[in-house]
Amino acid sequence: MGILTTSLGIGATVGGLFALRRWRENQWESCKTNKRLDGQVAVITGATSGLGKVLAEDLVNRGATVILACRNLIVAKEVVAEIKQQYLGAQLDVVELDLSSLESVRKCAAILLERYDHINILINNAGVSIPTKMGVKTAEGYEINFGVNHLGHFLLTNLLVDRLIASAPSRIVIVSSKLHEQGSIDWEVFEGTKEFEEGKRGPNAAYCSSKLANVLFGTKLAEKLQSHGVNVYTVCPGWNYTKLFRYSSVPFYSWIAIIPVAFWFMKPARIGVQTLIHCAVSEDSKNETGLFYRDCKVYQSQLKASSNPTIINKLWELSCKLCKIEW
Ligand SMILES: NC(=O)c1ccc[n+]([C@@H]2O[C@H](COP(=O)([O-])OP(=O)(O)OC[C@H]3O[C@@H](n4cnc5c(N)ncnc54)[C@H](OP(=O)(O)O)[C@@H]3O)[C@@H](O)[C@H]2O)c1
Repeated sequence: MGILTTSLGIGATVGGLFALRRWRENQWESCKTNKRLDGQVAVITGATSGLGKVLAEDLVNRGATVILACRNLIVAKEVVAEIKQQYLGAQLDVVELDLSSLESVRKCAAILLERYDHINILINNAGVSIPTKMGVKTAEGYEINFGVNHLGHFLLTNLLVDRLIASAPSRIVIVSSKLHEQGSIDWEVFEGTKEFEEGKRGPNAAYCSSKLANVLFGTKLAEKLQSHGVNVYTVCPGWNYTKLFRYSSVPFYSWIAIIPVAFWFMKPARIGVQTLIHCAVSEDSKNETGLFYRDCKVYQSQLKASSNPTIINKLWELSCKLCKIEW
């Protein structure tokens, strides 16, 4: 009798938690658009896992040709096979891209320009969150979060921008994060002349700064492309169950606090991706540019620096200098 009561109690608790979670998932915004993308070409960086992979599936399902620009070609080909099995006639391609090497970015862009005479959608999605104390650098010696999340994408966008303009109306989506509001700009660290000092800013301070760079880049890019038919969207997908924080170590006791918070606030990638779809595809956002989005809606950043024209222009000039380009 005791065992039966206990089993029923556990069953009811687990069932209740499942129902609560299902209810919670239904509260999150989802992009309702059923727009087709037949004939369109979309490039997604970092589509081997998480949000990029789910987005690739969505765009393929709408008829787009989707190019996965990824550093791990073996996994990328597995993803292609998996999507092709699910969506008959899916048009997919893989191009090697390691955003931590500007040379790799140049090679990737050259292949894309050779293979595709039009590119309608560019999703700057790939990202890393590598704790500052690990001191990891890009091939050119820049801080890794800044190098991969901002600098590599800055160069890639520059190299593809004329093709996007020629394919207008087209869209560029920059995947940032609300965590940019905790970011700060240290020009010497970005330039690679000083080590990142974590101080009181926490282990993910460099990640937050790189996400701030994403926002500053998006604002200036939109301004530059305003009269060229290319709209620019900067996005926070929310807090998602993905591999992003794989390098962060969490003390065992912290899980006691994290698990209930995660239960309530963390989204599966299929929900987190909805704001990316809203910006990349939806008719509702087609006349907007230069804005930041969360939960399929425009979001106003709480960080004053994110709209400071002096900082925006300075980052643009520094990025051009580091990538050795004029733009
Ligand atoms: N998950 C969240 O809670 C969250 C919240 C806010 C913003 N975001 C942003 O969402 C974007 C997607 O992240 P995710 O959550 O989907 O994480 P994820 O599952 O870790 O996916 C990141 C992707 O980026 C790729 N990547 C990493 N370093 C790269 C490099 N050097 N060159 C090329 N590709 C590289 C990864 O490839 P490998 O498999 O080869 O590592 C992977 O495909 C990121 O920009 C992230 O900052 C995520």
